[in-house]
Amino acid sequence: MQSKKVILSGIQPSGALTLGSYLGAIRNWAALADEYNCYYAIVDMHAITARQDPATLRKMQYEHLAQLIACGLDSKENTLFIQSHVPAHAQLAWVLNCYTMFGELSRMTQFKDKSAKNDENINAGLFTYPALQAADILLYQADLVPVGADQKQHVELTRDIAFRFNGIYGDVFKLPEPYIPKVGARIMDLQTPTKKMSKSEVADGGCVLLMDSPDDIVRAFKRAVTDSETNVRFDPVSKPGVSNLIQIYSVCTGKTIADVEKEFEGKGYGDFKPVVGDAVVELFRPIREEAQKLISERAYLDNVLRSGAEKASLTAITTLRKVYRKIGFLERPQ
Ligand code: TRP
Repeated sequence: MQSKKVILSGIQPSGALTLGSYLGAIRNWAALADEYNCYYAIVDMHAITARQDPATLRKMQYEHLAQLIACGLDSKENTLFIQSHVPAHAQLAWVLNCYTMFGELSRMTQFKDKSAKNDENINAGLFTYPALQAADILLYQADLVPVGADQKQHVELTRDIAFRFNGIYGDVFKLPEPYIPKVGARIMDLQTPTKKMSKSEVADGGCVLLMDSPDDIVRAFKRAVTDSETNVRFDPVSKPGVSNLIQIYSVCTGKTIADVEKEFEGKGYGDFKPVVGDAVVELFRPIREEAQKLISERAYLDNVLRSGAEKASLTAITTLRKVYRKIGFLERPQ
């Protein structure tokens, strides 16, 4: 029997899950477990490339885990783990750093953006972040990497690193592909609908979080930026705000865009916006309730993390050993 293909993704534990990350990504992940062997890492080591408050970071990791499980990622069918619990990530990252070029890292748009935004802390970890991400992916011989469009460049660099390494040492790594879902891949900010919804913009009300209260969600949608027309028509270029709302409503309800346009024919934004808000509230309600319940079950979450790290380690160590052998590291004598 051919073994299942492998999926791996990493989730930053900084900031909560957003409507954008849910609709654009996580919602589609639960169904993948039938067909693929899925690994999801909460990437605490990537998180510290920006300064983190230790207590918050600790809390966020449990919250993220609870939210992922509540989003349908069953912990038996998926391997859910914390990156730093599997030391092979740090170990392989060092090796891959030595096969990743300064010029390649300098061209990463995420590095350029992040260092422009925070010139107080342009640390070496931020620069070599993609080598650690490559290690995350290559350790599990991942075939597919579900990510947002902004991460495509990192997955492509991972391929380049793997290809280079394989060229020297033979077939060690599987070359991964980015897996970018078409539907709802780009949910836009409610206040600045030309920009992707991002948790770094929570403050201005443009970003809706999975754990937001129903009141907050409805308020955010009522305040959503639209345009000076009144008709509910899908036209992302001249009506980015309304089109984003149509897209969100369509994904939440399973209705097509044309159906949504028809449903609101002759109605204005004042009718449309609260209905979209309510659809999001109802979509999130069971997830939020489940996540809230899980967050208080610390022993259960610890069990998930324990078995996740054990399972992930088995695969990761196999790849790391092979790499060490190929590059000429000596095995530690028993
Ligand atoms: N860099 C990714 C992000 O910012 C997170 C990440 C870390 C990741 N390691 C990964 C994504 C491995 C996919 C695969 O969203």
